[in-house]
Amino acid sequence: MGERWQAVDDYIADKLLGADDALAATLSNNEKQGLPPIDVSAAQGKMLFLLAQIAGANRILEVGTLGGYSTIWLARALPDDGRLVTLELEPHHARVARENLERAGVSDKVDIRIGSAADSLGAMAKGDPFDFVFIDADKQSNAHYVAEAIRLGRSGTTIVVDNVVREGGVLEADSDDERIVGTRALFDMLSADPRLDATAVQTVGAKKWDGFVLARVR
Ligand code: SAH
Ligand code: DHB
Ligand code: MG
Repeated sequence: MGERWQAVDDYIADKLLGADDALAATLSNNEKQGLPPIDVSAAQGKMLFLLAQIAGANRILEVGTLGGYSTIWLARALPDDGRLVTLELEPHHARVARENLERAGVSDKVDIRIGSAADSLGAMAKGDPFDFVFIDADKQSNAHYVAEAIRLGRSGTTIVVDNVVREGGVLEADSDDERIVGTRALFDMLSADPRLDATAVQTVGAKKWDGFVLARVR
């Protein structure tokens, strides 16, 4: 089915997304500079853009920048005075992202912080709350990142977590893959934490069979 999933994603992109020079240049620059092709798909990027706009987000937090493909979609959802903080472990990824964000004309709105996301989050004091949080980094830390999103958010903050299905891998209760263990720890946390309402939606398409968590801080 994989080819047909890709073909339908191509159809959706053709009908609803249109040509986008900055995003196309981002993907080719990422490839040229050796970044892995694990960005969200175009349709998923537009979904993030729409969710952030529906939330009326003025302050966005992203965990896991890579080359800034999802960052560009999210930054475009912000009003003129809106700001996005994005956290990235790898200095090379952050450098490539900076180029891509500049080309896309959104770098003034985006603050890339280099280092482990757990450290960067730990250094962030509760201030102006984040309205929207997109979590897409090392999957073993997802439960911790959601806890930090709650701490740095407010009642009504939207949280999206990428890659929570992994071709059904989430069902493997005795997996020794840290990413699966981390994803299951995330579901355990979500099922027990009274501070959130959450669901998860499976997806197929250019990124094969995967899914995302959508949650709202109560
Ligand atoms: N959100 C991006 C894709 C992110 S890929 C997009 O859709 O375009 C995951 C990124 O998380 C990688 O760049 C990886 O270097 C980064 N990452 C992995 N572990 C991390 C950590 N502990 N702290 C911060 N970033 C991390
Ligand atoms: C991986 C990470 C992602 O964020 C993604 O969307 C797909 C794959 C990975 O680490 O393999
Ligand atoms: Mg992802």
